[in-house]
Amino acid sequence: MCGIVGAIAQRNITPVLIDGLKRLEYRGYDSAGIAVVDAEQALDLRRSVGRVASLEQICDGVEGHLGVAHTRWATHGRPAEHNAHPHTSSFQVAVVHNGIIENHHELREAQKQQGFVFSSETDTEVIVHQIDWHMQQGKNLLAAVQATVGELKGAYGLGVVSKQETDVLIAARSGSPLLVGLGENENFIASDMSALIPVAKKYMVLEDGDIARVTTDKVEIFDANGQAVQRDIRISTLSDDEIELGGYAHYMKKEIHEQTRAITETLEGRLGADSVLELPFGDEARDIFDAAKQIKIIACGTSFYAASVARYWFEEFGIRCDVEIASEYRYRKHVVDPGTLFVTISQSGETLDTMAALDMAKGLGYTNTLCICNVAESSLVRASDLTIFTHAGREIGVASTKAFTTQLVVLLMLAICLRRRRVGDGQTIDDMEREIVQELRSLPQQIENVLDLENDIIAMAKHFTHKHHALFLGRGAHFPIAMEGALKLKEISYIHAEAYAAGELKHGPLALIDEDMPVVAVAPNNELLEKLKSNLEEVRARGGKLFVFADQHSGLTSDEEAMVLEVAPVNNYIAPILYVVPLQLLSYHVALNKGTDIDKPRNLAKSVTVE
Ligand code: M6R
Repeated sequence: MCGIVGAIAQRNITPVLIDGLKRLEYRGYDSAGIAVVDAEQALDLRRSVGRVASLEQICDGVEGHLGVAHTRWATHGRPAEHNAHPHTSSFQVAVVHNGIIENHHELREAQKQQGFVFSSETDTEVIVHQIDWHMQQGKNLLAAVQATVGELKGAYGLGVVSKQETDVLIAARSGSPLLVGLGENENFIASDMSALIPVAKKYMVLEDGDIARVTTDKVEIFDANGQAVQRDIRISTLSDDEIELGGYAHYMKKEIHEQTRAITETLEGRLGADSVLELPFGDEARDIFDAAKQIKIIACGTSFYAASVARYWFEEFGIRCDVEIASEYRYRKHVVDPGTLFVTISQSGETLDTMAALDMAKGLGYTNTLCICNVAESSLVRASDLTIFTHAGREIGVASTKAFTTQLVVLLMLAICLRRRRVGDGQTIDDMEREIVQELRSLPQQIENVLDLENDIIAMAKHFTHKHHALFLGRGAHFPIAMEGALKLKEISYIHAEAYAAGELKHGPLALIDEDMPVVAVAPNNELLEKLKSNLEEVRARGGKLFVFADQHSGLTSDEEAMVLEVAPVNNYIAPILYVVPLQLLSYHVALNKGTDIDKPRNLAKSVTVE
């Protein structure tokens, strides 16, 4: 999704801005731009559609000490140079903007009456004209931005520069993340700290309503009431190691293979000899778990599928669990049962719908809020009572992989903690917990064994390259695994893929089956295996081609109509975490065969910070 970088320094900041944009590329975007106040105190604006590398090619000779830059993910107006940010108002003021301005129509009409000429279809352009207008009325840049944001409805993260004040960079935030990076006699702004890795370790996170006046040696922050405020200085733990490809062709492939390490780190310090420890989840964890009689989980995309798997675990353990997509949850009425723990799941911690759902939940009487998140410095973490981190490490590929499996690991640990209260006194460890804990310990090795199937999966992937559709089947906790498998395939290979609970086949989707519709199934050896086998027979009887990941003892074997890859026996609770891995690899190799942009699939963004 859109990314912002801004800089004010005594050196030429163009390379910093371009490098920052490259570091934000993983978020997804379709155009990019830069505006620098040059030596003649003029705004030098360069914008291009496509990659930051294309922008860099047209930035030769752009030099200055002050500037803002942006990667845009189109919402209002198609991806085009004239819609790319920064936007200027007659080259007096330049603005970069993340978010959506809801009252842009009204503002646009009023500004046209005032004589402003529009050169884009974006909602953003009204912001820059409004700031310009306020400056024309005699306000300085800070006051003009303060007046402007008071007139905006919607969400924004803003970076603003003006040729009339060449020693000031302004940042403003409401509903869209923005931070100030602190350097030595130079300062920066960014929507994501990863943009600033080489130039700043220290940073301050702006809160909603904050406006920062940034110079080379000073940062002043004013809250929504215009009062000067202090924000904590934090130290970033991000490093370049995490963004090296390390010999892999794609981040997605690297991240699939990193799952053994990511799960090991997620378990680290959280397991005792035969139990899940609660203390590492934080001082408040015990009280929050004690108070949780049932749980409600809200998330989007892959994180939603993690929640959907976990629902089977919670309910198996006697804990009522409802799961809902954030964008639906936030627009309906709710009846909240006392003692409900509100859980959000998000890799990025910046997904707008999930954030908005949490905001809404806070006013609805939930007992506590807990988030499961991969990014320590994220908005969701700051807004939640308790966070359990997935220590997956930075995930760059748009298609989520290691974040998903580590979310599942955390959810299983949470389910065990709550189960202990449900089946016992909250302290006593029983055989079932012991068994699951041992299985969790061996999970990284089990994943390693599944990764060894990669050559067979490469052979399987060849059957999908020229297909236009695919069906994914699973039962029980593996139904959401099938959904996650289908999401992976559609995201990166652009093949239309749908997932069904296998028992639903005969209620409709069976009509789709023919030799052009590959059917992928996950078949662990559980109590639903025989039912699933019958469903697969229904496919086979109609000429469908089967691609099955099955337990070694499932009795399923390869033949003319079915390609079966065997997975070693695994504990039923752990199985969903293991069985998603071959589906990730399958999608990856299909996409590789198709030559798509695997890490940055078309139209998608890593971090969905708009509605
Ligand atoms: O950062 P989040 O976990 O909140 O993101 C939610 C979804 O946008 C995300 O999982 C998306 O579905 C991925 N691209 C899936 O691979």
